[in-house]
Amino acid sequence: MVGNSSNSYVSDVLDVIAIHGLKKSYNLGDMEVPILHGIDLNVKKGEFIAIMGPSGSGKSTLMNMIGCLDRPTSGSVRLMGKDTSTISDNELAELRGFEIGFVFQNFNLISRLSAYENVLFPTYSNSKNSMNIPQRAKDLLGLIGLDDRLHHKPTELSGGQRQRVAIARSLINDPSLILADEPTGNLDSKASEDIMNIFSDLHKKGRTIIMITHDPEMEKYVDRVVLIKDGRIDNN
Ligand SMILES: Nc1ncnc2c1ncn2[C@@H]1O[C@H](COP(=O)(O)OP(=O)(O)OP(=O)(O)O)[C@@H](O)[C@H]1O
Ligand SMILES: [Mg+2]
Repeated sequence: MVGNSSNSYVSDVLDVIAIHGLKKSYNLGDMEVPILHGIDLNVKKGEFIAIMGPSGSGKSTLMNMIGCLDRPTSGSVRLMGKDTSTISDNELAELRGFEIGFVFQNFNLISRLSAYENVLFPTYSNSKNSMNIPQRAKDLLGLIGLDDRLHHKPTELSGGQRQRVAIARSLINDPSLILADEPTGNLDSKASEDIMNIFSDLHKKGRTIIMITHDPEMEKYVDRVVLIKDGRIDNN
């Protein structure tokens, strides 16, 4: 027993993500609606994981907790060895800004900014000094096939193009952890393959990637599938 708990402690400190007993409820009026019912999940550095499960099962809710965009009702989330409930706001902002790249399910692009400016946006408050940020933004947009759309606003882009801008933006600060919520959800099969090849390359370079997907085709790219059903991990 003692051995187990000390092993799990060591693992929690070394793993990129260590989640224990994570519960999340939303308050609707005076009713508390439980969504996540006690999630345990450890992710090692360099793993590429797919989170799958039916619509409404809690996948985005879980992703938001991992990315510290929302707080758990109970349970703990450790990121890179740090307990996210106890670290300071500054430390949390640094972790989010430098280490995590987020691709949101609904893109969350800023409508008054161009594609290029959207990709640059996460670097306005912080960036790794050694990088040539404007060039990197252009390179990333080129990589995802949007070099001829740098100055288009989100409303002047198709759904799939917006999604690709969101992916380029998530990579601008060269994050070690990429959280991608349905990154290929609006793309045709050729574009999906292009994006998955980008993620595969990042995986080979040692980045940790967690991707929510509905597409069983994506299983071939990942090390492990985590299945969520009704707010619980169901991998049996
Ligand atoms: N802010 C919120 N307030 C209240 N309920 C919410 C909120 N966000 C999500 N929910 C509820 O939590 C449940 C899980 O939502 P979530 O977005 O995590 O599902 P999902 O697995 O990502 O689904 P999808 O595959 O459709 O994206 C849903 O029933 C949803 O209505
Ligand atoms: Mg979702």
